Amino acid sequence: MKDKKRTATLLQKMKENGEKISMLTCYDYTTATLVEASDVDAILVGDSLGMTMLGYEDTLPVTMEDMIHHTAAVSRGLDKTFLVADMPFMSYHLSDEQAVENAGRLIKEGHAQAVKLEGGARFASRIRAITDAQIPVVAHIGLTPQSIHAFGGFKVQGKNEARAIEILEDAKKVEEAGAILVTLECVPEKLATLISKELHVPTIGIGAGAGCDGQVLVYQDMLGMFGGIAPKFAKHFANVGDVMKDAFTTYSKEVKEGSFPVSGEHTFAITDEVMDAVIAHTKGENND
Ligand code: KIV
Repeated sequence: MKDKKRTATLLQKMKENGEKISMLTCYDYTTATLVEASDVDAILVGDSLGMTMLGYEDTLPVTMEDMIHHTAAVSRGLDKTFLVADMPFMSYHLSDEQAVENAGRLIKEGHAQAVKLEGGARFASRIRAITDAQIPVVAHIGLTPQSIHAFGGFKVQGKNEARAIEILEDAKKVEEAGAILVTLECVPEKLATLISKELHVPTIGIGAGAGCDGQVLVYQDMLGMFGGIAPKFAKHFANVGDVMKDAFTTYSKEVKEGSFPVSGEHTFAITDEVMDAVIAHTKGENND
């Protein structure tokens, strides 16, 4: 499986065979090449880049230009990994036509293989329109960060009966509309497991438990690169943040004490003959 090209069809087969799908966010070329060298099945260029890469407080300011810029960079580092790009806030809210046009840009200019948009039943017509334009759509329901103001904060969704049923119905509606994958964010484990059983297409959970058909995490969260409070579901698979901080500190110390760079090891040689000529030049000996 390691080198097999991941396609929408393959991801569907994985669900049918009971194989879990692994997905990570990624926003730049270098990290894309590292993910590509692993066995991760899919990359999401999430609009979380607004927070992780651009330092915004939430994802709302992210533009189509931001998404295209980062998606294109990631695509240049990939070969077999399936590439999904997020549709940013207000890039699909106005009409089906607007949604198709912007989804098309993420495919043509960003070289994504699918687009993701947030919203359930209310956005089913957008999913249908984009799908009809032959662009695969990943739906995103449960906690949808672009609705932060409507939700009143980042909160687990579906804990009460009405909201749990609404999320289940959203899942069915987005599948009916043509979604190839359904992201379930911050949904109680048992509800996410039930939804995963009810749907034919794979579910990709984030904070939704192991009953989902796959998982996605923000890579800075899983690498321990954020100093702040990590979400409960974001297991640290490495402490890359500490490794980076130590390396930056050591680098600065060695520069200041003069132990880096080491002559011969990190430097380039020049012949004495050329150097003598350069020194003579500085003294005006060779000047006409
Ligand atoms: O933007 C993002 O990274 C996402 C994931 C959290 C699913 O939408």
